Order: sequence, then structure tokens, then C-alpha cells
Amino acid sequence: MQKPLQFARELVSGVLAPGGYAVDATCGNGYDTVFLAGLAGQSGRVLAMDVQERALENTRQRLKEANLDSRVRLVLASHSELPIYLEGHPDAAMFNLGYLPGGDKSLVTRPETTLAALEAVLPALKRGGLATIVVYTGHPGGMAEYEALQSYTAALPQAKYTVLEYRLLNQANNPPLLLTVFRT
Ligand SMILES: C[S@@+](CC[C@H](N)C(=O)[O-])C[C@H]1O[C@@H](n2cnc3c(N)ncnc32)[C@H](O)[C@@H]1O
Repeated sequence: MQKPLQFARELVSGVLAPGGYAVDATCGNGYDTVFLAGLAGQSGRVLAMDVQERALENTRQRLKEANLDSRVRLVLASHSELPIYLEGHPDAAMFNLGYLPGGDKSLVTRPETTLAALEAVLPALKRGGLATIVVYTGHPGGMAEYEALQSYTAALPQAKYTVLEYRLLNQANNPPLLLTVFRT
């Protein structure tokens, strides 16, 4: 059995191939950005965003170490500003919500901006593409963010999207859960 983040990665690896385009809407410490840049290959592109300079620094460093920095555009801005930075149609978009591990826990993702980002990226997805959203409910505001995302994604039109919720039901300490929106 895969944990939600692992399963998100497996789903992304099924749609993002060399030459592809991906979005990391919350680059944080850069692990997902490195993962996306690896899949997108030398001719691919990744847009990675975060509101914290420290997150961008950590991501830049990790990309340099992996020699993947030239295929990634790092942007210090809220993902609610995605329409300004999006270049074309992504194969995949990853959202890993919450706060920066090891960072300031008050700087968390918020439902209004997360929803604005989804509203921008979902219609732009390539047909057959997808968006993964790893959601944490254990911190203040986390449950409200989950509820907002759950109702938003559950109401997406079936003719255009298929929505999957993947969550563990009997685990202690509020493990993360995964929402995935497939563009059909
Ligand atoms: C759980 S971390 C992301 C982990 C990251 N994907 C990785 O692989 O290390 C969540 C990140 O979301 C960022 N964040 C919070 N609000 C944001 C916003 N409105 N737009 C973009 N990033 C935001 C935080 O600064 C934090 O770095």
C-alpha cells in the first residue's frame, strides 16, 4: 500500500514524460520539484512556486545538486497568481499543502488561494493530465481547507474531470490525504 504522497507521485509519473510541462504549486523544500524535473527531462519545463524565499532557496539548492535547475522556473509568488506565470498546458500539477517542514508553521496554504490556484490550473491541464493535492488536516485551518477542497472538487463537472479521494481511515495523528483531479 502506498502513502498518499507516494501514490500522488505514481499517478504523476503515469502522465509526465520527457518534453512535458508540470507545475509544482508549493515547492517547499524542493523534493517534488526535483521529482517533476526528472520526469520532464532535458526538453521539459517545470514551473515551481512558493511564497517563502527560504523555500525557493532550498528548492534551488536541491535542483542544482541534481543538475536539474535549467529546466525549472522558480517563482516567488502565491499560486493564486498562477495565471500570470503559466506557460501553456501542464501535463501535471502537484499541490502539497500545509506549512514548510522545518519552517514557520504560521505560513500555511489557505483555502482561498488554493482554490484560486486550482481554478487557474485545472482548465489549463492537457487532456489526460492531472492535478494532485496532498492535504493535511492536523494543523489549525487544515480541516477547513480540506473541507473547502473536498466540496470544490466533488462539484467539478463530470464531463471534463474525474475526481479521486485517497485516504487512510484508521490511522492516528491525522495522516495526509490525497485528492486527484484527472482531466478527461
Ligand atoms: C508541505 S510544503 C511543500 C513541500 C514541497 N512540495 C516539497 O517537496 O518539499 C507547503 C509549502 O506551501 C507553501 N505555501 C503556502 N502558501 C502558499 C501559496 N499561497 N502559494 C504558494 N505556496 C504556498 C509554504 O510556504 C510551504 O513551503
